[in-house]
Amino acid sequence: MTEKLKGLILSGGKGTRLQPITHTSAKQLVPVANKPVLFYGIEAMVAAGIEEIGIIIAPETGDEIREVTGDGSQFGAKITYLPQAEPLGLAHAVLTAEPFIGDAPFVMYLGDNLLRDGIVSLAEQFQSSNPDALILLTKVPDPEHYGVAELHDGKVVALAEKPPEPKTDLALVGVYMFTQAIFDAAKAIKPSARGELEITDAIQYLVDQGKNVEPHLVDGWWKDTGRLDDMLQANRLVLEDLQPVQDGELIDTQIEGRVVIEAGAKLERCVVRGPAVIGAGARLTDAYIGPYTSIDKGVVIERSEVEYSIILEGSKIADLGARLEASLIGKHSQVVRTDGMPRTFRMLVGDKCEISLV
Ligand code: DAU
Repeated sequence: MTEKLKGLILSGGKGTRLQPITHTSAKQLVPVANKPVLFYGIEAMVAAGIEEIGIIIAPETGDEIREVTGDGSQFGAKITYLPQAEPLGLAHAVLTAEPFIGDAPFVMYLGDNLLRDGIVSLAEQFQSSNPDALILLTKVPDPEHYGVAELHDGKVVALAEKPPEPKTDLALVGVYMFTQAIFDAAKAIKPSARGELEITDAIQYLVDQGKNVEPHLVDGWWKDTGRLDDMLQANRLVLEDLQPVQDGELIDTQIEGRVVIEAGAKLERCVVRGPAVIGAGARLTDAYIGPYTSIDKGVVIERSEVEYSIILEGSKIADLGARLEASLIGKHSQVVRTDGMPRTFRMLVGDKCEISLV
């Protein structure tokens, strides 16, 4: 393979499983450890030496993605935005990108996926063994939620998209390496029962045509952040590798374990037990922050305990009287206790909500 690899990131779609967060924001921009999920994919590509990246965007969220991600210079890449008028499937997104990809082999990365070990070794395997396509697989306990692959003697023989009765527990990870062959395949297939041109069907077409589809089993963790539980787990997994930084102001505050406190954050009479990240300009007073928590910039927390949660920019949490845990709180939301019995809260709250608990 001589042509330089290009990158394609799919950041369109609807994000229905993360509503209401996705009513106002792209799911690929929800932060994990205070960084948009999408950025991890871009960084993984840049680390693998990919300089030209196309990003598929939807009409509803495309502008926001453009604004936050820019021309790619902040990552050392050149980004081209590729509008997809409707979310007609992953293989449809591939066809939308065909003029951008041209003759190059390419890596396709689903914008809501996170892969711990990146794609450097995969890109090397792809370029040295020269298959028509390379797919990533990993064992999961719930294969019915993913594309599922069947292997025979180490070769891919069959693929199915979210089968109700999966034949194996090998899920398709949302990172794929393709050659030009995928364009003919995407043109040859028909929409599935859910009305989408499925990438699994396009890859099955390659297999049926006798093309070489190479499987690669992923060792490190992988997360599709499309649902709340996965988002919280992704946040936990990324925070596991956190390197401590202390740029904020601490008054009578105890920090335990690995914690990042960004510039301008002020913590007064708090206990923070890492791994956790406290964003720029956050104000925490008489608060306990437990492990696996990401507090975004400008958040205010008063007289409350928060653990294993993601709190987005500009939100306020006060006087809860019980620990907030396993929660994702949208931007500029308010969760304020007025009175009542202590309870544990579990929430998926949209941007700009106000919640007063009695
Ligand atoms: O995460 C891995 C799974 O991703 C695979 O196991 C499945 O085989 C694959 O079909 C895909 O399933 P999902 O149902 O999770 O795909 P989702 O609709 O969430 O779309 C994945 C990303 O692609 C997401 O960032 C939105 C974007 N997208 C999606 C569609 C349907 C587009 O950009 N355009 C589209 O038309």
